[in-house]
Amino acid sequence: MVKSKSLVEGIGNVLTTKKYYDDWSDQYDFILNQWHYKVPKKSINLLKKKLKTPPKYTLDLACGTGLFGEELAKVYKKNQLFGSDISKKSLLIAKEKNIYQNLIKKNFESRHRFNIKFDLVSMIGSMTYCKNFDKLFSNVKFTLCKKGYFIFSHRIDLWKKQNFDKILIGISKDFKTHFISRPLLYLPLNKDFKNKIKIRLVLLQKY
Ligand SMILES: C[S@@+](CC[C@H](N)C(=O)[O-])C[C@H]1O[C@@H](n2cnc3c(N)ncnc32)[C@H](O)[C@@H]1O
Repeated sequence: MVKSKSLVEGIGNVLTTKKYYDDWSDQYDFILNQWHYKVPKKSINLLKKKLKTPPKYTLDLACGTGLFGEELAKVYKKNQLFGSDISKKSLLIAKEKNIYQNLIKKNFESRHRFNIKFDLVSMIGSMTYCKNFDKLFSNVKFTLCKKGYFIFSHRIDLWKKQNFDKILIGISKDFKTHFISRPLLYLPLNKDFKNKIKIRLVLLQKY
């Protein structure tokens, strides 16, 4: 109960969030399944519709235990998947799934330096924790190749509070907004979210 209340209100600073997800990691997949968390699957369905060619290299920011990665790997079998998160224990669980080529412990607002550029970057279920949008989008721009895509979900209640439309306008010189979904259920069987707190899926394309 405490967990879900914190989820709605936000957990706190990066250290608190890291500890929260470390402590939750072994139960996370089970509980999210109980709450009927389908955003990873919905994200893949969106990618299947919108991407003209399958991704070759994907960076999964805030990958957690790998729920989005698992759905991606089912559909894009040749894609090479990289992931990062601040929760070491979640990363260990993601590693056991054998779907990520490379997993690193890193804040999504920090520069991710790899030898390759990605044609897809994802950040599913995690925009809630972004403290500095400039840093996040700058990192995404840095990691993406030209014309690469960024898919993320964002809670509509926070979208309104943060005036997220303005944030999208602010990055419009670097990213074209390719698609914004209608409101979608997020955690329908969690009593605090139900059909009250919904998300949108957003697909941006780097110029
Ligand atoms: C709700 S989970 C989503 C995980 C996964 N993407 C999914 O769909 O199941 C949120 C994740 O964001 C991670 N996270 C929170 N703040 C972060 C940050 N600043 N940098 C990187 N990861 C972060 C947490 O550790 C957690 O694994």
